[in-house]
Amino acid sequence: MRAAGNLLALTMQEVLNRIEPGAKDGDVDRFAEEFIRSHGALPAFKGYNGYPKTLCMSFNEQVVHGIPGNRRIKEGDLIGIDCGVILNEYYSDMARSVYVGGEPPRRIKQLMEATQSALASGIENMREGKRLGDVSSAVQTQAEAHGFSVVRSLVGHGIGTSMHEEPQVPNYGSPGTGPEIKNGMVFAIEPMVNMGRYAVKTLPDGWTIVTADNSLSCHFENTVAATPDGPEILSRVQSAVNI
Ligand code: MF3
Ligand code: CO
Repeated sequence: MRAAGNLLALTMQEVLNRIEPGAKDGDVDRFAEEFIRSHGALPAFKGYNGYPKTLCMSFNEQVVHGIPGNRRIKEGDLIGIDCGVILNEYYSDMARSVYVGGEPPRRIKQLMEATQSALASGIENMREGKRLGDVSSAVQTQAEAHGFSVVRSLVGHGIGTSMHEEPQVPNYGSPGTGPEIKNGMVFAIEPMVNMGRYAVKTLPDGWTIVTADNSLSCHFENTVAATPDGPEILSRVQSAVNI
């Protein structure tokens, strides 16, 4: 799973380098698919429940599962990019959000920082002896700190030889509740944070989830293992992967 996470993080780095005004989302998607395949892995999303692409690219009020096509990226877009790979049968899943065109306005910057802190805080609780509710509540607390709201109807998940395994990892909850975390467990922790209210709806394409109030939304995700040395982010570029 380290190797899968490493390749995924490398892919994300390359993808993020290609996000610029004028670029077409479908071209970025094609690049990602080729990059993944040329490294001996498979795009995890393509074909998953009929999902047609390698990336999910979710613009502005889109929360997740936006389908890349013919949309041109422009200055001022806030884009969530979600990607998964399968390497040697193991899955990794990660998402980043980027603001296009320089420094984001103050409130957007706050939204992005709140989402990243929520993810970091969830990761910090990914320790043997803690409970699932500790992760969820840590995520929620950070996400809501500046008056933002955390999406309820979509959750993180266990991950391993399938993309979605038990348990579900909600982005809200109560400390000290739920199953105990054990070393060796791996979760995809993925807060989705809205500037407005938490309600979402699905567009007629059957995939794209948008905020019900059309407010902006932000998504960050990492694949994280509980280990005897503490939480380990698997979806990151590693200088050496030895397994
Ligand atoms: N990253 C998403 C998740 O964690 C997966 C995208 S769903 C897909 O659930 F259908 F697009 F693959
Ligand atoms: Co996920």
